[in-house]
Amino acid sequence: MNINMNPNSELVQSAVNVPNLVQVPEALINQAHEFQMAIMMYTCAIREVKTKLEVLNDELSLRNQRNPIEMIKSRVKRPVSIVEKLHRRGLPISTESMVQNLDDVAGIRVICSFVDDIYTVANMLVSQDDITVVTIKDYIRNPKPNGYRSYHLIIEIPVFFSETKKNMRVEVQIRTIAMDFWASLDHQLKYKKDIGDAADRISEELRQCADVIAATDQRMLAIRKDIEAQGGTVRK
Ligand code: GTP
Ligand code: MG
Repeated sequence: MNINMNPNSELVQSAVNVPNLVQVPEALINQAHEFQMAIMMYTCAIREVKTKLEVLNDELSLRNQRNPIEMIKSRVKRPVSIVEKLHRRGLPISTESMVQNLDDVAGIRVICSFVDDIYTVANMLVSQDDITVVTIKDYIRNPKPNGYRSYHLIIEIPVFFSETKKNMRVEVQIRTIAMDFWASLDHQLKYKKDIGDAADRISEELRQCADVIAATDQRMLAIRKDIEAQGGTVRK
């Protein structure tokens, strides 16, 4: 096999004495390395933010005798999704372009028990002095027309490497268990195409479900507050 996209480029031999010698242009190897480095940095940024959230959860659990955070999920955007998004937006396909233009290469999803926990956790996180807020979108107070609810933050966090400090962007989505349930199913249903005339009716059904879920979240919060007002605690 001979991978040589640009016939004029310098070739690097990956190994000697290998039967099907792979020859890769040096520029391609450099690009791949640059991309790998960036992904490693995003992975580290996720770790930093996750630790902050876990610290807050530990402290608040002791103070209030219940966990405000039910679960933390995280992911680094897949290369194919990165390329797709850059392409969709008509942007250059490169590591530099990814770092400059995409806010959600590193993503963290925080699932909270109650709606008020979302604001508590978000406010505590953004008030930490090494965190810079890039954008906040409150889709709980202002749900999307389809019913989607979540609290979205784009933040920047410094990550220290051997020789440099990089300010890395991380998208943090904070939502309740119920909002997460709705969003997961909505996401799955988006892949079901060709529903033709039924599309409007199904979208309306989904929106109504989102409203019911939001009302239930409010009732669960009211129940918790009622228990607390009676002098009780809601234990995990
Ligand atoms: P993207 O280009 O998708 O990142 O959108 P955006 O830059 O306008 O940001 P926005 O804050 O609206 O959405 C970011 C992310 O929130 C998405 O990538 C999804 O993970 C999630 N999201 C937003 N809207 C919906 C929705 O209607 N349904 C579901 N399931 N998830 C959504
Ligand atoms: Mg996104």
